[in-house]
Amino acid sequence: MTPVLPLDNGSMATVKYRMRKPFIAANWKMHKTIPEALAFLSAFLPLVKDVTDVTIVLAPPFTALARVSEEVRGSNVRIAAQDLFFEEKGAFTGEISPVMLADVGCSYVIVGHSERRQYFFETDDVVNKKTRAAQKFGLGAIFCIGESLAEREEGKTFEVIHREIERGLDGVAPRGLVVAYEPIWAIGTGRTASPQQAQDAHAFIREKLRGFYGNEAERLCILYGGSVTPENIDSLMEKPDVDGALVGGASLKPEQFASIVTFGRKK
Ligand code: 13P
Repeated sequence: MTPVLPLDNGSMATVKYRMRKPFIAANWKMHKTIPEALAFLSAFLPLVKDVTDVTIVLAPPFTALARVSEEVRGSNVRIAAQDLFFEEKGAFTGEISPVMLADVGCSYVIVGHSERRQYFFETDDVVNKKTRAAQKFGLGAIFCIGESLAEREEGKTFEVIHREIERGLDGVAPRGLVVAYEPIWAIGTGRTASPQQAQDAHAFIREKLRGFYGNEAERLCILYGGSVTPENIDSLMEKPDVDGALVGGASLKPEQFASIVTFGRKK
């Protein structure tokens, strides 16, 4: 998995062999008006235009999706929504369906983010319905899981991950699926999981995915989320089961997010 290769200068470097294309997504949460989103794009797109070896995804708020989607058309950037409702259409005031998200140009949708679970009372059952609905209408689901600080301190990290996967992925196919491990104690706190803590959780998640999908699990990206920055992305991405990142705060600034997308290169 991690061969040691000779460099041009004669020294040796450990290079992680990747069987999965890295996937780096920006979750803007409830930030950016349309003009702010457009200003971001005009700085960001030129910075990443030559990046072909990373899947780059932006998840703006609903109100900016249509405009952002228009603006990135033909580029190497894909669009995600931050949430969806699981019905196709109907009397569900205020909700947005997967069909509408596909219509507006989304390739992906984030489901089960801990902020949805915590502030909007989304249960594993609701997250499961949303994940299935996303797939049914051709959207890739970025399926989020992760434990709280209390759960980690009580030694329940793997128990929580196990439950969220068992219930959340019931009946979900591997097609388009991306899993994001976001320990709640690391979100917006500046307290990143150590690369080894991330790897341990990701290896456990991969094993669960093997149980669901057999060998297909090797092709699925598992992202880490929680205080990812340009400074810590390289050490996280060196771990064998860390295939990318779901970035909140540091994705709001074009230079910072571009620096995360271009991880591993000398800046
Ligand atoms: P921060 O990067 O701000 O910690 O947010 C992580 C997150 O919740 C991404 O979905």
